[in-house]
Amino acid sequence: MRIEPHLEALAARAIHDALGVEAPAILRPTQDAAHGDYQINGVLGLAKRLKENPRALAEKVAARLAGEEAFAACEIAGPGFVNLRLSDAWIARVLDAALADRARDGVPPVEAPETVVVDFSSPNIAKQMHVGHLRSTILGDAIVRTLRFAGHTVVGDNHLGDWGTQFGLLIVGMREHGSEAALEAAPIVELERVYRLASERAKTDPAFADAARAELAKLQAGDPQNRALWQRFVDVTKSALDVIYDRLGVRFDEWLGESAYDEALPGVVATLLERGIAREDEGAVCVFFGELEGADPKLAKQKVPFIVRKKDGAYLYSTTDIATVLYRAERWRADRALYVVDKRQSGHFAQLFEVVRLLGVSMTLEHVGFGMVLGPDGSPIKTRDGTALTLASLLDEAEERAEVKMVEELGLEPALARELRAAVGIGAVKYADLMQNRTSDYTFDWDKLIAFKGNAGPYVQYMHARCCSVLRKSGEALAAIAGPIALAHEAERALARQLAKLPDVVHAAAASSNPHYVAAHLYDLASRVAVFWEHCPVLDAEPPLRASRLALADLSRRQLARGLGLLGIDAPERM
Ligand code: ARG
Repeated sequence: MRIEPHLEALAARAIHDALGVEAPAILRPTQDAAHGDYQINGVLGLAKRLKENPRALAEKVAARLAGEEAFAACEIAGPGFVNLRLSDAWIARVLDAALADRARDGVPPVEAPETVVVDFSSPNIAKQMHVGHLRSTILGDAIVRTLRFAGHTVVGDNHLGDWGTQFGLLIVGMREHGSEAALEAAPIVELERVYRLASERAKTDPAFADAARAELAKLQAGDPQNRALWQRFVDVTKSALDVIYDRLGVRFDEWLGESAYDEALPGVVATLLERGIAREDEGAVCVFFGELEGADPKLAKQKVPFIVRKKDGAYLYSTTDIATVLYRAERWRADRALYVVDKRQSGHFAQLFEVVRLLGVSMTLEHVGFGMVLGPDGSPIKTRDGTALTLASLLDEAEERAEVKMVEELGLEPALARELRAAVGIGAVKYADLMQNRTSDYTFDWDKLIAFKGNAGPYVQYMHARCCSVLRKSGEALAAIAGPIALAHEAERALARQLAKLPDVVHAAAASSNPHYVAAHLYDLASRVAVFWEHCPVLDAEPPLRASRLALADLSRRQLARGLGLLGIDAPERM
């Protein structure tokens, strides 16, 4: 069960019964366990309205709550807060129920499930995936997994950048500078090399630039030869992407790239013109927010038009994105769409969402933005420019370092370290990304990232493996572990309080697209498991205590694996 909504409802009822008003309880976890587990802040705001001293009001509410079995203590604090200390017996019952719930570990599905599209990864054809796409891929995958587990219907869509000006350049570029053998051997590398050459040359060679535009026009008009070339570029890029997605364990439900909407684009522009949302301007078609009644005043003031057709007739990223929203609303009846994209594109999404709103689409659209990954020198890590690292080489290095460290620091057998290198190395890269508040930039630091102490993926995996090991040594069948849980030692009480939070954490992470809530929970949980091992012998304990501690160990194991799973990280059983 979810603790917070339950306590909040109890507190709201107590406010109603004691003070005779309907008011939100405003429940928060306390910062300091010495003050209890949760605090009610809502009473403070009622003092004025009820013309009474807030502490006196808080007294009355606390007296009402005191009889509830969930609480061991309800105390007044500060100017009018109520501090709640949960009862150990009550937490133990909550955890017994979670233990028995093998399918969901006590996490209830959301009450109002939605259909949610998650647009993520979405790299551009003929370019190596860069670190921005790595973030989008890892974050998007964790968001998909979390929403799905929370009970929503999720469509994970890889909206590839597979249409547009780069193809004219690629077609002429391959003809004049390309190598068939290189394209076979390392397709993306070759496409990228040719693209770079071609776009450089187009700047100084007008005939070449014209030829590229002509090829693009032919492609968009359906010329079979150019279509075939385009298909080939898309296919080789996709198979190279598949290798990365496989290594990352990431899957998509759909791969509807920009090209999938090509045929819908003229209709989109026509509709915008008909509805008076867009107008012609020097041959181009644009939305001027300042001229539209009821448009977002902020966009109106910015005076940046949203261009949906260029004067040469070409459609843009923006046009495709409008068509994509309409498709998702119609075809999937989506309630929400999340765009997991670099926050530097926030201007584009603000405009897009506004145009779509003006069109009358009621779907909720959110830009799930994220910051940059910085190198040791504090500037963005780059993958292009030749020397800089590619995604594949980053993952290789992670695996290499993880393998070495498992032997050196955990003393693992080399064969086992080898077997675990991908799970631990790639898990470390993912965790380092997902533990961050996604909107901030973060510095990529190998030593912190691959660590068996401190807030790092391998540490969480290691604590999970230790749970597995204790349970293995107990000789108990996992299916037979049923508690009951009884909390006596301080380390057990602290561990149990953390375990009881998982359902709230999962739902908070799902609702806000913040996987770092899950990562933070895992780290706190792993740390409390470590203290528990230190102070509470499991295997040598006497029967009722042993059963309770095995239950805590098993629930910890399941939650660590569950949480890592939501982040797309493996949980090896031996480490
Ligand atoms: N291909 C784009 C890029 O690499 C990201 C696409 C994001 N999704 C979208 N519907 N605009 O920048």
